[in-house]
Amino acid sequence: MKKLAVFASGNGSNFEAIAKFKNRVYQVELLICDNKGALAIKRAIKHKIPYFVFNPSDYDCKDSFEQAIIKVLQAYNIDFIALAGYMRLIGKTLLEAYKMRIVNIHPSLLPAFPGLNAIEKAVNYNVKVTGVTIHYVDQGMDTGRIIAQRSIKVKHKSAQILEKTIHKIEHRLYKRVLSKIIRRLEDESIN
Ligand code: GAR
Repeated sequence: MKKLAVFASGNGSNFEAIAKFKNRVYQVELLICDNKGALAIKRAIKHKIPYFVFNPSDYDCKDSFEQAIIKVLQAYNIDFIALAGYMRLIGKTLLEAYKMRIVNIHPSLLPAFPGLNAIEKAVNYNVKVTGVTIHYVDQGMDTGRIIAQRSIKVKHKSAQILEKTIHKIEHRLYKRVLSKIIRRLEDESIN
């Protein structure tokens, strides 16, 4: 069983969906949060998952912020990281410590609409099709290699309705993709 840490900044519905998924490949050991007011923390408490809040402004640079996070990840023997609504770029320090072991979910068909407010941007652009992307994390903003995508027809001009549909798909997709890629990682370490 591989140990997974989820990073979230806000609501945390994806964190909860990943954590609740009963499977033999991964277990969510930890929530890492950069916002002490995040609803994700309440969800962690509900599921008895340890959580740690790191406030970036308590650190003099990104490197020391990420070093502090890595200390906790190592204390919990974390193998893999899933970003789930974590609204911060991952820096060199974490990327080097967890090479090809950090993935992210994004609410658009990347490379379209990277960054913040992807759902609103898609609606405002009047796209007919949008979706969800899961990708490896690199130093860019939602630029890493794509692992999985699901498309959705945009039927309403409402970002709220679209967000609900996107969340449903994210909650189903992320846990399955995570267990697939983490299982592959496990197989590779055996062979
Ligand atoms: C999700 O829709 C996720 O795809 C998006 O934030 C939302 C978090 O929802 N992530 C990004 O936009 C990353 N660039 P949640 O907190 O309820 O899981």
